[in-house]
Amino acid sequence: MFIAQCKVESVEKLAENIYLLKACSPEIASSIKPGEFCNIKVSESNFPLLRRPFSICDVVGDDIYFMFSVHGEGTRYLAEKKAGDVLDILAPLGNGFDLEDDYETAVIVAGGIGAAPFPMVTKYLAEKDKEIITFMGGRNESDLTDYGMTNLNYSTDDGSKGFHGNVVELLKSKIDDFNLDEIKVFGCGPNPMLKALKEFCEEKNILCELSTECAMACGFGICQGCPIESTFNDEKYLLVCKDGPVFNSKDIIV
Ligand SMILES: Cc1cc2nc3c(=O)[nH]c(=O)nc-3n(C[C@H](O)[C@H](O)[C@H](O)COP(=O)(O)OP(=O)(O)OC[C@H]3O[C@@H](n4cnc5c(N)ncnc54)[C@H](O)[C@@H]3O)c2cc1C
Ligand code: FES
Repeated sequence: MFIAQCKVESVEKLAENIYLLKACSPEIASSIKPGEFCNIKVSESNFPLLRRPFSICDVVGDDIYFMFSVHGEGTRYLAEKKAGDVLDILAPLGNGFDLEDDYETAVIVAGGIGAAPFPMVTKYLAEKDKEIITFMGGRNESDLTDYGMTNLNYSTDDGSKGFHGNVVELLKSKIDDFNLDEIKVFGCGPNPMLKALKEFCEEKNILCELSTECAMACGFGICQGCPIESTFNDEKYLLVCKDGPVFNSKDIIV
């Protein structure tokens, strides 16, 4: 773990409220793995005080990419960054997805900005010759992007694009297309989506990893500010920043 001063190269708008920030960091680019995250100081002043966590979205050469949507002050600062601004970034943090497991087909399930970690995941899976199917859901069309993803199936709550319903319902509607012994599900999105995905995968006995989210402070296990309930008898709570953000779905209670 280290702090890098990273020059912003661009901030691009991918959809109504989806941004892609590109910054240069040879150190982070060469050390971070799919599913890991960075804790970013979004402003040069001390406001907001706390860093904000963001998944690594993609790495190309020395450049790192973050995909984000604007929620509050911190993400608004990020969206307003200009080429040449410098970001103070703590990285690499957390664990990543286990992409090496024994499966033939990776089933990616992304809810809204939960798509953020999957471009880098997709790139790694393609290098390993895994088949990849992606399900992406949003409230409406403006929550969706195809950046860095492949073989996409969309769902929207309002039916404005793709399947009319949520992304877990979409997965359920397609599940007979798969040999369940040969797939592994990788999910990221809001908690209700993760909960539904966990329940479905456990009911069908499908391998499943979930990238979880919660408010964070330190980002590396010191402040104890990011507990998540576990299914372990000996350790009731795990830390999202240190033990996650990616967990086997069977290990956590969402
Ligand atoms: C490991 C990890 C990886 C993440 N990766 C990404 C990413 O790649 N792209 C991205 O856009 N976001 C990501 N997030 C969420 C992101 O960190 C928050 O959206 C961000 O911190 C909000 O900061 P803010 O100052 O803009 O909003 P705040 O002012 O802090 O919050 C504004 C509103 O959003 C709510 N909020 C804040 N954080 C979250 C959250 N995590 N989940 C749900 N609601 C929240 C608050 O309750 C409040 O209502 C990630 C979070 C974690 C823990
Ligand atoms: S954010 Fe501090 S322990 Fe997880």
